[in-house]
Order: sequence, then structure tokens, then C-alpha cells
Amino acid sequence: MSLSHGLSTDKNWWRQAAIYQIYPRSFADADGNGIGDLKGVTSRVDYLKSLSLDAVWLSPFYPSALADGGYDVDDYRNVDPKLGTLDDFDEMLAALHNVGIRVFVDIVPNHSSNLHQWFKDAIASAPGSAERNRYIFRDGRGANGELPPTDWPSHFAPSAWTHESVWGGEGNQWYMHWFAPEQPDWNWDNPEVEADFLATLKFWADRGVDGFRIDVAHALKKDLSEPLRMRATMEYEEPRDLNGTGILMDRNEVLEVYKTWRTLFNSYDPPRVAVAEANVHPSRLPLYASEETLGQCFDFRFIDATFDSASFKHCVTDSLEMAKKNNSSTTWTLGNHDQMRYATKQGLHPVVDRDEWLLGNGTSHPVDFEIGTQCSVAANVFILALPGCTYIYQGDELGIHEVADIPEDQIQDPIYLRNHKKAKGRDGARVPLPWTRAGENFGFGDGSPHLPQPEWFGSYSVEAEDGVPESPLEIFRKALKLRRELQCAEEITWHKTSRENVLHFSRPNGWNCITNFKGGRYPMPKGEVLLTTQPLVDGKIPSGTTVWFKA
Ligand code: NOJ
Repeated sequence: MSLSHGLSTDKNWWRQAAIYQIYPRSFADADGNGIGDLKGVTSRVDYLKSLSLDAVWLSPFYPSALADGGYDVDDYRNVDPKLGTLDDFDEMLAALHNVGIRVFVDIVPNHSSNLHQWFKDAIASAPGSAERNRYIFRDGRGANGELPPTDWPSHFAPSAWTHESVWGGEGNQWYMHWFAPEQPDWNWDNPEVEADFLATLKFWADRGVDGFRIDVAHALKKDLSEPLRMRATMEYEEPRDLNGTGILMDRNEVLEVYKTWRTLFNSYDPPRVAVAEANVHPSRLPLYASEETLGQCFDFRFIDATFDSASFKHCVTDSLEMAKKNNSSTTWTLGNHDQMRYATKQGLHPVVDRDEWLLGNGTSHPVDFEIGTQCSVAANVFILALPGCTYIYQGDELGIHEVADIPEDQIQDPIYLRNHKKAKGRDGARVPLPWTRAGENFGFGDGSPHLPQPEWFGSYSVEAEDGVPESPLEIFRKALKLRRELQCAEEITWHKTSRENVLHFSRPNGWNCITNFKGGRYPMPKGEVLLTTQPLVDGKIPSGTTVWFKA
């Protein structure tokens, strides 16, 4: 496997990759408009290289009015002018490839935006027209069609139906949207839609993109047979195993879509890879991650797992077993752009209701910043030692915390705006990154950042941590570099420990990982210490610490 001149030649590169999620509008702003851009990413390639990554995944950078942070796409085969141009994309891709980093783009196939040309055409066309049939339009219930066609709820708003008049439609129909009204769902029973997405995948794959993250991968196909079924269960909130026959989620037909995509992916050399974001019952995940479909599926088990040995062990065991079922590999993740920052989750007392805490701008309870960051680094180094892929959300390598006090008038997330302000939403994990300790916008760019950065950001900046051996950044760098050198067969062996809250496992080549989750110091086993997330004290592992060693 050669990495000195661009990309590795290993076709299995994706199985145990370290993948870094870039949320482009909050990563680095090269043109000073307050929104991060593709040139900003290119300007930070050396930084990404310093992390020994195998790939980056870019959240959507397509033209979008940002009703949902870019997951409302106006044009799938272009770059938002606020973020750059297709030439900037090519330049960024070449720069990343040149240092051995592959690139995933985010595909959003469940819905477009209301500003997509096909949705505008649909609104301007008559009921029953070919234009409307690309989306899900229906007549309403009630004497005059004044009620939505069904009681389906939306993830971001009370109803999954909005009347066409909202966008100037002159008819009396409603269209369906799982998310915000600005995100109309595609009609995946229409072959035109399927063909258009194949064209999009080909567009990016031909440009040299290596992989795809598939947004809400389980939702594309719905049971649209008439009469439409009313909501039997709230399928979204509590994924159930309905054997592929639910109304709106996880229907068996969606797997057929991915089989077609797989054929396209495999026509490239090396085959393009994909990872599904599928919020389905765990027993159904392997279907999305099989060699015939997308190949990998996010496993979100760790995201809300308690920071203790029992729940971590449970997550690992389950996930490894699941991946074995279809020759996939696991995908560990502790954070992403939809989650409260992992360090903050760990720094809050476990009894605190996180949603309420956020709603109160983080004033109701203190966060222990230091412990939160320590546990976050320990948990990340734990998952980095496991077989399979690790996803790292931008800023987590700095141990950064949630920005809980974004002023009301600056909140962007539809979760807040559409839920009568009953949930604060996800902006607090999307605040532009601090690159410098001080100075204008902490080095993010010249323009005022699209979300406000707090005073304390500087102490979590790249500049503040760079070269400081015990900083989260340097620990991540060391761990990612070592991980690459130590990588071996995708297996682990658990070892007994003398305390309940300590987990110890090893990989077949003698790479050992031990984590002391809570409690007093734990005696360090015999071996050559490779890495510790906190210094040993008198040869013992302090609480909230992970150590790698060679036995
Ligand atoms: C999942 C994405 O991660 C999230 O940010 C988005 O709001 C929904 N899908 C809708 O696209």
C-alpha cells in the first residue's frame, strides 16, 4: 500500500479507514463571506494531511437556500456560489488526492429543495402532470380538500404535507415532505427520478469522487398505493422491524435502488464506495450494508451510549457481529453535524436533560469542560483501536464543546424554527472552527461567521493545540498515525480486567487498548506504552483515560 504519491492502491482501503467529516460552511472561509467554502478546504489540506486521514466526507455544498443547512438541494450537480465553483471542487479534490486523502460527497436522494427546477415545474403544472409525478402530490381530505391527505408527521414540522399554495401553486393539492416544507420528497416510483440520481452519482464519480454518504437512505420508497394508509406507527422515531413493509420507512424496494447503484459503483476502478445513513431497526442494517447494496452503514450506537464499560462493550460486540453478517466493516462514530458535541455530552452531569439544557442556553447546569474533553478524547482513541472505519466530526479532534448560547435571532436550524422553539436544534455543533487562538474570527475567515463563535473558542483552536503534546489535537494526530501503522486483521479479543469499569481488548498483532472509564486509578498492564490520552500517574491509568500498548 503506497501513500507517498497520492492514493493508496488497496481496493479495500475503505474497510478500516479514518474518515473526517467536513461541514463545509463551517470549516474555513477563503473568500470572507462568513461561510466556509471549498477553497477554504483546499487551503487547509496540510492540516488534514497532518491528521493521517484516509478520506474526508463533505456535507452538502450544492446550491441551496439553506433551509436545512444544505440538505435542501437546488441542483445536485453543481456547487453553491457561496461555497465556490465546480473548478474549485476539482482543485480541492486534486489537492486532497495528492496527499492521499479520498473524498466522499453527500447525496440527498429522499428530497430536493423547493427551489429545485423540477419542483418549481411541478408547482407550475397541473395535477396529474408528468412534472407533478416526480414528487408526491395528492388531493387533500375534507369536503374541499382542506385537510392534509394523511396524518403522516414530518420530522421537522407537525405535518408531512404542505399545501401547494404556499409556493404559489394555483391548484388544490398537497405535497409530501418528511423534513421541512422546503424539502419536498421525491417520488421514487418514477423512473425519471431514479435515472436522474444515477446521472448525479455518475457526475461525481466521473469527476473522481471516491465515495458517497447517502442521506436518509432508508426513506426513498413509500407505500403510495391508494388509499394511502394512515399512520399506523410513528416509524421514524422508533425504528421497528416491520419486515420491509412499513408505510414510509425501510421498505424492501429501496434495496433494489441500491442494487442498481452498486452496479454503477462497481463499474469504476477502484469501485466507488458508499455509506448509508439509515435509521432503521438494527436487525435491518445489514441489508443496506451488503456487498450488493451500499456496502457500509453508519452505526450510531456509540452516539448515545453511556460512557461506561458495559455499554461500550455491548456496542462493539453487536456492531462487529452485524458487520460479519454481510462482509461489511463497522463504522464507529461519536459525533456529526446532527449531534450535540460529544465533549459536552460527557461534561454534563448524566441526569441533565440535554435538550432542556440547550433550550435554556446552557445556563441551567455547568459543563465540566475539562472532564468532557478528556472523556471525548478517551472515547475517540478507544474507537480508533477497533476494527472497521472511524468517522471523526470536524472539531472533535480539538475536543471542542457545544456552543449552547447562540442567540435566538441567529439560530438557523429548522428543528428550532419549525418546532415552536421547543427544541434548540443542531447549530451549536456547527459553529465555524477556530483556527487561531485570537484575532479576527479565530482565523476562520475575514467575514463575520454565519454562526457566532464564543470567546472561549480560542483555547480549543488549532493554533492553541498545535505542538502541545497532551492536547486533544496532538493525541489525535499520534493515534491516527499509529493506527495506520498498526492496522491489522479485523478482529479483537477481550481481556479480563479486575475492575468493572475498565475495558481491555487487543488486536491480532498485539496492539492493546485499555480504557479506564470511571473510578480510581487502574494498574497499567505490562507492555510497551504507545499512547495515553492522559499521563499515567505512578504507573496507573487515571479515570477517563485510554492507553494503547504493545504486549
Ligand atoms: C440527515 C442529515 O444528517 C440532517 O442534517 C438532515 O437534516 C436530514 N438528514 C434531512 O436531510
